[in-house]
Amino acid sequence: MLEDALGAVSAAADLQELQEVRVRYLGKKGLLTQQLKGLGALPPDERREAGRVINEHKAAVEEAIRERRAALERAALDEQLAREAVDVTLPGTQLPQGGLHLLTMVTHRLLDVFTALGYEVAVGPELETDHYNFESLNFPAEHPARDEQDTFWTTDGRLLRTHTSPMQVRYMETHRPPFKVVVPGKVFRNEAVDATHEAQFHQLEALVVGERITMADLKGAIDEMASALFGAGTRTRLQPTFFPFVEPGAEFAIYWTHPRTGRQEWLELGGCGMVHPNVFEAVGYEGVTGFAFGFGIERLALVPYGIPDIRSFYQGDLRVLRQFRGAL
Ligand code: DAH
Repeated sequence: MLEDALGAVSAAADLQELQEVRVRYLGKKGLLTQQLKGLGALPPDERREAGRVINEHKAAVEEAIRERRAALERAALDEQLAREAVDVTLPGTQLPQGGLHLLTMVTHRLLDVFTALGYEVAVGPELETDHYNFESLNFPAEHPARDEQDTFWTTDGRLLRTHTSPMQVRYMETHRPPFKVVVPGKVFRNEAVDATHEAQFHQLEALVVGERITMADLKGAIDEMASALFGAGTRTRLQPTFFPFVEPGAEFAIYWTHPRTGRQEWLELGGCGMVHPNVFEAVGYEGVTGFAFGFGIERLALVPYGIPDIRSFYQGDLRVLRQFRGAL
């Protein structure tokens, strides 16, 4: 039986088979176990010797099983290591790398320009109240901009801000002049979407308040921005127009060389003016003057890069977006 048992142990091809051999010989009803149990039936003078021999064989089988198990475990580990080995010489998987959106890059560029001139950067809520978006900015009650056609109203009477100008008032309410601040952000207009109009776009707002701030300072700020973006000495112009929250109000344009056509032309950018006395009154400011301007950021990205359709900014088409990776 010992020889059979040892033979079975070394023939066991895996741990499962080895366990079966163990049960067959050493289990509760195993062949060797039964031999031990049968000792009682032997004449007393043979018991001692028989017991010694059986126990010796039992120990030998146990030892053989231990060795076989160790060998099988080692083999299993070797096999696993070989199977899971990593070939470090194989070419790696190229992970796609993200990049900043062109609009984000243009916005960062603008913020760099203004923070270098000492402006703070502030942001405000996209969900606004009629008070901040219109009322405090001196919009008369019947002003057409309040029309449903232009403004997205929520069912509880709030609205998606139609411009970043409401942050002028929010900022003045929480700060003391003098200050210089710029506010980038999303704005929303309820209008027909086409190649040059989106229901959502971005603006940059600037507000400077202090003693004796003048229209010349406004012109100077716009000149500084134009020079920083398009080169020293870039010309700008202001043409009178009406915005309820400034007086006088103007629209401004930058004279630049179109990068594609090479032609010089005026790029109409946005609105500006001197902060209206009614706006200062609404926030309790006295003895100060200030200027403000605001413009759409998309235009600054669309025109220089010759992007024909504003909607391509928001469609997430990687073929479009990749072309501007690292552009700025
Ligand atoms: N908020 C205006 C708009 O969205 C633009 C604007 C005009 C901003 C005049 C200003 C300003 O700060 O002074 O059309």
